Amino acid sequence: MGLTVADHPLAQHLLTQLRDVQTPPPLFRTIAKRLTIALVLEAVRGLPSVRVEVETPLERAPGRTISPDLVAVAILRAGLGMLEAVTELFPEVSVGYIGLERDDVTLQPTSYYEKLPPVEGRHVLLLDPMLATGGSAARACSSIKTKGPAQVLFVCVVAAPQGVARMQRDHPEVPIFTAALDRDLTENGYILPGLGDFGDRLYGTEPHLGAPPNR
Ligand code: PRP
Ligand code: URA
Repeated sequence: MGLTVADHPLAQHLLTQLRDVQTPPPLFRTIAKRLTIALVLEAVRGLPSVRVEVETPLERAPGRTISPDLVAVAILRAGLGMLEAVTELFPEVSVGYIGLERDDVTLQPTSYYEKLPPVEGRHVLLLDPMLATGGSAARACSSIKTKGPAQVLFVCVVAAPQGVARMQRDHPEVPIFTAALDRDLTENGYILPGLGDFGDRLYGTEPHLGAPPNR
């Protein structure tokens, strides 16, 4: 399955603000939400829709509704920064959470929480802003796929080539939607040029933020 890079100028404008180290957490959260809207619009383009008719004030009109089988799964914690965009776009969406934390040295994800709604036969939007080595996304996909979804779609903000390759190897049927395919990873598994640690920037937990100013 394919990789879609959202090249809309607005998506790229928002991504540039997220990359900027000067963007503080409150603004980072707002922009992350706006960018997720742009990415999710792209991701749901191919989802099944249902033909309906509605009564306008003048006459009946044909229309379409997106089928109500949508599930959003946020990978904790950084995926939370993308979730509100989805619940606002699709108020009826069912929401699940998968808690994964990547080990600083081995870069392997450890699972610490999982709560999923029924996903059998449903379309799942899997949300995690950073696809680095791909270990976390691949692990989350494996977990969701044991429950028999109709399809999993992975939505992220920045992808590294290594993460895309891992997903295409382990879950070739899962399409990836991102705002950028970046160049590489550091030895510590950070995306280059990337935007740093998304969870830390989202929640203001970057180590230097709590430090007293230099005098
Ligand atoms: C980050 C990010 C992804 C993962 C990506 O989470 O949100 O889940 O790393 O890396 P990978 O593709 O190499 O697995 P992290 O483990 O730092 O946890 P956090 O969201 O709680 O900060
Ligand atoms: N997780 C992040 O938050 N940022 C990266 O660059 C890689 C993993």
